[in-house]
Amino acid sequence: MTLPVSNFGIYVHVPFCTVRCGYCDFNTYTPDELQRADAAETWAESLVKEITYSLEQIEKPQILKSIFFGGGTPSLLSPEILKKIFTKVSLEFNLAKDIEITLEANPDTITKEIVKTWIDLGINRISIGMQSSDSAVLKTLDRTHNPENVKKAVNILQAAGLSNFSLDLIYGTPGESLTSWEQTVTTAIELEPPHISAYALTIEPGTALYRKTKLQQIPPVSADDQADKYLLLDKILSEHNLPWYEISNWAQPGFECQHNLNYWNNQNWWGYGPGAHSHIAGVRWWNVKHPFSYSKKLTEEKNAIEEKEILSTAQINLERVMLALRLKSSDLKEIVPNATLINWLREGYLKEDLNNFELTPKGRLLLDTLVNQLT
Ligand SMILES: C[S@@+](CC[C@H](N)C(=O)[O-])C[C@H]1O[C@@H](n2cnc3c(N)ncnc32)[C@H](O)[C@@H]1O
Ligand code: SF4
Repeated sequence: MTLPVSNFGIYVHVPFCTVRCGYCDFNTYTPDELQRADAAETWAESLVKEITYSLEQIEKPQILKSIFFGGGTPSLLSPEILKKIFTKVSLEFNLAKDIEITLEANPDTITKEIVKTWIDLGINRISIGMQSSDSAVLKTLDRTHNPENVKKAVNILQAAGLSNFSLDLIYGTPGESLTSWEQTVTTAIELEPPHISAYALTIEPGTALYRKTKLQQIPPVSADDQADKYLLLDKILSEHNLPWYEISNWAQPGFECQHNLNYWNNQNWWGYGPGAHSHIAGVRWWNVKHPFSYSKKLTEEKNAIEEKEILSTAQINLERVMLALRLKSSDLKEIVPNATLINWLREGYLKEDLNNFELTPKGRLLLDTLVNQLT
């Protein structure tokens, strides 16, 4: 069966990090865990295989609108490995003229030399894991970078002409005061990012931070504290020409992440790499998680899929509503019954703007409750 594809992006999962941060449960592995010097080369070879096999399952020709290298730490990839993947992608796909190609980077890994490679390959957007400007907060998160390296990294990118970058921030880390968070936001703004993503810290089961909170070595996160920080962030960013466009994302107009908009608009993408998720034409699947099982399965079975599900009409509608509510650009009149809109306006969850409705910061904080009222 070949799946019909339009509005197509690809995600490449890079499952490697130098060390694991204490809060992170993403599908990533350190050299100590893998104990294989050729792990990245093997991963790249398998990825190339997965691309070949994927083309038997989707309609051609593909116009590729975006590529997103996520992780893990994609900025650790060597120029040779990146070139291998780019050669394969350019060979097999029809790249849109205005394609957006994003790579996630840890501040410590951004050097003049690697940035030149990225630009030569066509990477035109970098997402930097800043998290906080407060070294005490970074320590609680087990982040290894020195906060000053973020400014150095941004300077390197800007000097090379790669000025489309995003900063990732985390708020509500135990021990982070409102003043510390305000300082983080101010420091971020001073770097003049065209885009900011900010996430409330989640204490994920199985992480080092989870164990520390269970042992009461670290206090738990507070939902009220995180709400205050969200409101402060949204206020400062909107005053600096960075309006929200998705619940956790703010951008100068024209710098919204096209790849992520594709997800939130429930479009089509193939996620390559261990543990990566894909969604094409109402079919969703995800790959086996471990890089070694991923390579083995591709060699033996010509696919890496762990599980696949065909979405029912009810599931498709529910996802459409959940995703649409996250986006400022959604036409809420299309998805929310009139009586509910009036109620949300009265409660201050919505505001009316030029005959359209937009979630207020209070409404965005209560997103889950609002979604529940629609389902
Ligand atoms: C998984 S990382 C990949 C990029 C890169 N390795 C980095 O750390 O910046 C992407 C983003 O996920 C966010 N993240 C990961 N775990 C999180 C958690 N438990 N709570 C909130 N945000 C989290 C961080 O903001 C991070 O920047
Ligand atoms: S937060 Fe980023 S650097 Fe830290 S372990 Fe997760 S993926 Fe790796």
